Amino acid sequence: MFFKKKQIEKIDMNRLPVHIGVIMDGNGRWAKKRGLPRSAGHKAGADSLKKIVTACNKMGIKYITVYAFSTENWSRPKEEVEYLMNLLLSYLRDAENTLAGENVVIRAIGSRAELSEEIQEQIIKTEKFTANNTGIVMNIALNYGAREELTTAVKAIVEEGISVEEIDADLISSKLYTKDQPDPDLLIRTSGEIRLSNFMLWQLAYSEMYFTDKLWPDFSVKDLEAAIIEYQRRNRRFGGV
Ligand code: IPE
Ligand code: IPE
Ligand code: MG
Repeated sequence: MFFKKKQIEKIDMNRLPVHIGVIMDGNGRWAKKRGLPRSAGHKAGADSLKKIVTACNKMGIKYITVYAFSTENWSRPKEEVEYLMNLLLSYLRDAENTLAGENVVIRAIGSRAELSEEIQEQIIKTEKFTANNTGIVMNIALNYGAREELTTAVKAIVEEGISVEEIDADLISSKLYTKDQPDPDLLIRTSGEIRLSNFMLWQLAYSEMYFTDKLWPDFSVKDLEAAIIEYQRRNRRFGGV
């Protein structure tokens, strides 16, 4: 008997990306295609995220950073921003039951001062609640922008009076929200847009980029596997030969 190899069996589990970055894009278009309000797309996107994080954790991926709200997303209509903030709040709350049970460590990266007190408190709670888990680390990029991150890092370096001789790439990395974490090996962006939109500009210096037309709510575990298979086909040279 001949059995076709399952897609997941094509993945070399010894060469998994350690850290995956995801620009979860296309929620609005997903909803529009169905004649639904954009909020329905965001809701479906949140469900998609849970599935993907759980699958990554099972596979043995160590870190995932997901772009949930950018520093530029405040320019959207007030109702959409409000909906997204409420969705993120309930996601963080719910994560204590569901993702914590899956052993996920949850962290928020981005500038917190502009977020409501309720969200800020929930972030602290969820981070504390999941801190001792031993599974995948999930960074939720919330009010995140790489330029804000780098600007904040430069300010800290100046404020701390660090001398010019001490400043190198490692020092700068240590001032970013992702300090103590490896850079993403693989970046996935959905919805057909081929740009970074201010996501992890420093950390993505040598990441492999994977762009797919799939809209984020449609992005499945199969699509994740396909991205990893493609990643494993790439030849990473890091400037060498
Ligand atoms: C991504 O989906 C989610 C966020 C940016 C919060 P979009 O809302 O950007 O969806 P499109 O790009 O309009 O389809
Ligand atoms: C990037 O998507 C931000 C998030 C996915 C949270 P956008 O939809 O905001 O990016 P642009 O506007 O298409 O560049
Ligand atoms: Mg978009």
